[in-house]
Formats: sequence, structure tokens, C-alpha cells
Amino acid sequence: MTGLAVNIDHIATLREARKASYPDPVAAALMAELAGADGIVCHLREDRRHVQDRDVRLLRKVVQSKLILEMAATSEMVGIALDVRPELVTLVPESREEVTTEGGMDLIVHNKSIGETIGALQNNGIPVSIFIDAEPEQIKLAHQAGADMIEIHTGTFCEANGSSRRRQAFDKIVDAAKLARKLKLGVNAGHGLCYNSIKAFKGLSEIDEYSIGHSIVARAALVGMERAVRQMRELVDAL
Ligand code: PXP
Repeated sequence: MTGLAVNIDHIATLREARKASYPDPVAAALMAELAGADGIVCHLREDRRHVQDRDVRLLRKVVQSKLILEMAATSEMVGIALDVRPELVTLVPESREEVTTEGGMDLIVHNKSIGETIGALQNNGIPVSIFIDAEPEQIKLAHQAGADMIEIHTGTFCEANGSSRRRQAFDKIVDAAKLARKLKLGVNAGHGLCYNSIKAFKGLSEIDEYSIGHSIVARAALVGMERAVRQMRELVDAL
């Protein structure tokens, strides 16, 4: 069965918009699990713009499925991960100016430091995924760096205008997923996926799990978290 990991960052965004104590991403995570999420994802950013340290620690205590921590490859974040012990760390590039993660990690640039970060986590029993663009070179470098899995950046496909650009972006994802499988890497995919774009992935058995946040939280604001997750669950189950 294809996995659905639900990212609850933007429940925290709503809370931080007012610096209030609600809505609580921890409550949202529990509702997402009840509605069939296979995992809960949160991104603890260096600038703490949405998820806070308190959220990660509470999520660790209450999440029953699996906790996936998205983080930059910094020593501060490695320290937190070693303490919290999520079921998976996904390494992502981060810059303070971006509205959201804008692309995959460039392993041509960060090759050596990424290998060290992966080692520090894996030596303590934490599997590591790297968020990368659907480029063969990046996948080979992720494999060489010792990652357990990759998460393919689907944002380029989701944002592509016009059917030929969309097709091209999708074909790259398919090729990337097949190459990663051949290299025996686990394959996740995410960023920008919504209730419409997810349908394009039907039959792509190389992808183990989809990581989806913004579209689910946006729908939850209108129909409720449980219903929003169930509706995505049905779409992922139909792939
Ligand atoms: N995967 C990664 C690595 C991300 O950084 C994000 C956004 O935090 C997502 C998946 C989820 O993207 P979206 O919120 O657009 O569904």
C-alpha cells in the first residue's frame, strides 16, 4: 500500500500568525493519524517560523505511527534529532528568505558535509532521507553519500504551466524514482501535491510514500482535519 505522511507545519503557521496557543499541531497530528495517516511530518526550521521545539518534543511523545523530522543539515538540528529520535530524518535545504522549501538539496555543492550528517544520524540508529530534485546526478550522489532513501521534489511538476512542461517534469520524476529503486534507495515524494496533482501518480509503484502538507491543511480549514486527511487517503489508496 502506498504511504501517506501528513505534514502539520501549517497548523503551526496559523498559530504563529497570532503567536497564540492554538491551533495545536499536536492535536492535528492525532486527528491525521485517526484519519489514516501513515506518518506525521514536521519541519523544525532554524528561524522557528512555524513548528517550535515544544511541538517536536510533544509529537515524539504522542505520535503512534511514525515521526518524520525535516531539518537542515546543521549541528544544532542533528543534536535535536539525536535527542528526539524520529523514525526518519529528511534533510532539506533551508534559507531564511524563502516562503517554503524551494527545491531539493544540491548534493554537488554539499556532498562532503551531507555524508558527515548522514553518518552522525545513522550511527545513532536514525535512518536518513534527502530531499532532492528529480535529477539522475543528485540521486547517484545521495546513494554515494549513504542515504537510506530520497524524497523526490515534486514542486516543479506541480507548478509547471502547460501540458508539455508538466509532462516533462513528470517524466523526470518517473525516471528518478526508477533510478533510485535500482540503487536500492527508498523513494518518497513531496512538495506542492494537492487533491488534483496526486492523481497523476497512479501506477507509479516505485514511490513508497507521499509527504503532503499545505493542501491538506488548507482543506482542513474548511472541512476539518479528519475529513481532509481521509479524502487524501482515498486518493493515495487509489494510486
Ligand atoms: N516535503 C518536503 C521536503 C517539504 O519541505 C515540504 C514542505 O514543508 C513538503 C514535503 C510538503 O509540501 P506541501 O506543504 O507543499 O505539501
